Amino acid sequence: MSEWKELNQESKLMWNKNAEFWDDYMGEESNRFHREIIRPHTEELLDVQADHTVLDIACGNGNFSRRLAEKAANVVAIDYSSKMIERAKLRSELKQIEYKVLDATDFDSLIALGNDRFNSAVANMALMDIVDIQPLLKALFYLLKDNGVFVFSITHPCFQSPNMRKVHEVEDMGGIVESRNSIQIFNYLTPLPYKAIGIKGQPTPHYMFHRPLSYYLNLAFQHHFVLDGIEEPSFQKENETNQFDWYEIPPAIILRFRKYAAASNNHL
Ligand SMILES: C[S@@+](CC[C@H](N)C(=O)[O-])C[C@H]1O[C@@H](n2cnc3c(N)ncnc32)[C@H](O)[C@@H]1O
Repeated sequence: MSEWKELNQESKLMWNKNAEFWDDYMGEESNRFHREIIRPHTEELLDVQADHTVLDIACGNGNFSRRLAEKAANVVAIDYSSKMIERAKLRSELKQIEYKVLDATDFDSLIALGNDRFNSAVANMALMDIVDIQPLLKALFYLLKDNGVFVFSITHPCFQSPNMRKVHEVEDMGGIVESRNSIQIFNYLTPLPYKAIGIKGQPTPHYMFHRPLSYYLNLAFQHHFVLDGIEEPSFQKENETNQFDWYEIPPAIILRFRKYAAASNNHL
């Protein structure tokens, strides 16, 4: 088995181990990070219409899929963790959501979802958890209709990378106490797998796959997508009581890529 296949297997086991904990924690409404930072911008960028069919990639417990289903005609929600999908199904019996155990690194299974089927696709905080995103970007060209969009959020790779260090400094400047937060980055350019914690207390750390921003952009450009939306959201300072949070350094980046329609005619 190749090194990447082994990593993918190991990574899936970790998500299966974490599924119950993750579902209990995220519940129906997800956490504050998702509610305040991810969802509002993602929903705006996706602009789901009543007659749309939407693909939710790496859907976890399906909390966002169910939100999508309130607006869209049909939602297909995929995740490679059978335990996550089990939990997602337990939470809803909405007919317009089709949950599927499907590995987003498997090009053939992705393509089998249907050529030209989707108006949009979304992957919330997931691509940095997927061992290889090349098959997915390649498949999305076929899955999406012309001018269809792919919106994804990831941990901001410029500010969160393997071995990064968060620094909180407090300095007494002649009676005036100043405090500052900063980040030290040690690895940025080299793609690298590493283990991390998404939610404090999760049963096991999971793999994350660091890639520089140019990797994501160039991969999408290569597969005939154009970038036409971007957000670097952060928490609102006035609502925040925790002094150790970060207002100036966005924890996530959200990108919208649009399938370049003219490319369909020339694509192999
Ligand atoms: C951080 S969770 C995000 C879940 C969900 N999108 C949300 O916002 O709540 C990452 C998800 O990616 C899934 N995942 C990781 N690699 C995958 C792959 N190769 N194919 C499908 N799902 C994958 C995991 O099982 C997990 O549910």
